[in-house]
Amino acid sequence: MDKIEVEGVNDLKGNIQISGSKNSSLPILASSLLIDEEIVISNVPNLSDVIFMIKILKSLDSEVNFKNSICKIKSNQPHDLKVSYELVRKMRASFLILGPLLTKYGYAEVSLPGGCAIGTRPVDLHISALEKMGAEFIVKDGYIKGKVKGRLKGCEITLKKISVGATENIIMAGTLAEGETIIKNAACEPEISDLSNFLNNAGAEIRGHGTNIIKINGKKKLRGCQFSVMPDRIEAGTFALCVMGCSGNLILENVNDLICNHLKKIFKPLNVLSLNKNDSGDKLEIKKTNQFQQNIIISTKEFPGFPTDLQAQLIASMTKSSGKSVIKENIFENRFMHVSELRRMGANLKQKGSKIIINGVKEIYGAEVMATDLRASSSLIIAGLMASGKTIINRVYHLDRGYENLEEKLRNCGVKIRRFSE
Ligand code: EPZ
Repeated sequence: MDKIEVEGVNDLKGNIQISGSKNSSLPILASSLLIDEEIVISNVPNLSDVIFMIKILKSLDSEVNFKNSICKIKSNQPHDLKVSYELVRKMRASFLILGPLLTKYGYAEVSLPGGCAIGTRPVDLHISALEKMGAEFIVKDGYIKGKVKGRLKGCEITLKKISVGATENIIMAGTLAEGETIIKNAACEPEISDLSNFLNNAGAEIRGHGTNIIKINGKKKLRGCQFSVMPDRIEAGTFALCVMGCSGNLILENVNDLICNHLKKIFKPLNVLSLNKNDSGDKLEIKKTNQFQQNIIISTKEFPGFPTDLQAQLIASMTKSSGKSVIKENIFENRFMHVSELRRMGANLKQKGSKIIINGVKEIYGAEVMATDLRASSSLIIAGLMASGKTIINRVYHLDRGYENLEEKLRNCGVKIRRFSE
């Protein structure tokens, strides 16, 4: 199994190309099942989660060619509408093929996604919404089998809890449903807008994406098109937190206005970073202006709040400082797997229910640590950059799910980092 060894640095300096968004690419790839003609999607990051979604599409007889960030897909009528446990258990986002298969082919058999390191992560909101649109489900031997008599019917759906995945599955189901689907209490994440913009390019009629009320007018058919995936705002936020932890001056390239404004907003309460975008908004300079003063409280929230996907990285970047701060995780019930590993590096962290209390320390120390999930692994990289000495991170396959060429990007900013396997 691969490991990464990283040495502490005092200063990060350099330019970093931000890759395309994992959390936009995955639903867009899943939505290719709705379209009979060839689609060409660019700025797709070369990540293990993306490779995995492509594997699932190929198991459903799609022809997929993925090279140099460009993904060409031609989907075909699958000979078998069952997606195996083997494929689904490894990636929860596989569940995003349910809506497309049901609305396009009237049948789908998908293994229920197992829990994962960040909680049980049920799919009840996806199922109840699709049932309301006319799908009938039975759960047997860990599989959920859905079927539809005729076409799904558009209707009004109010999500009892904001869910990115459920919003995406309903949007995709609504594109080929009969009549209009209205989603209330919809998630507003930019990745949902990216998916909607892609589908509208393919002839769908989706309005209100980016707000809590989304309307989809069902069509009989969608057409082939080209589309470029938005940049990854969580990767960009991760690098900003590297600067917060270590100091320095990074220039992120291939970003966009929305990401620049979003990062400025969420990092403002920390009063440590200056973020300056260029006129076209595709470059963002990040500098550390003050020493981090603790005594702040940050709570994770749905977009446009502080993203849960940056919570682990934020905690790592706050470990070396003075004073006491509190981070509250409101989205997932168990997203603190990184805390015990950070403690092993000398961080002073206490968990109280859904809160982590951070008592800043002067120094943290390199150690051998274990990654447990995607964002926990990037928090350990940040801690390794901040630590005295060397840190070795085990199970870096977690990192490869969501960060493209991370070692190379950090090496170009003066970091001594290497990957090896034992
Ligand atoms: C998406 O996951 C992202 N993944 C996650 O990013 C992200 O953390 C999450 O949204 C929240 O922003 C992708 O986009 C591929 P949810 P998703 O449905 O859709 C509960 C990363 O690190 N819920 O918005 O699975 C759920 O348990 C990953 O890149 C139900 O109760 O998240 C959670 O508490 C991790 N019933 C909350 O809603 C349901 O049917 C939000 O989950 C569905 C969800």
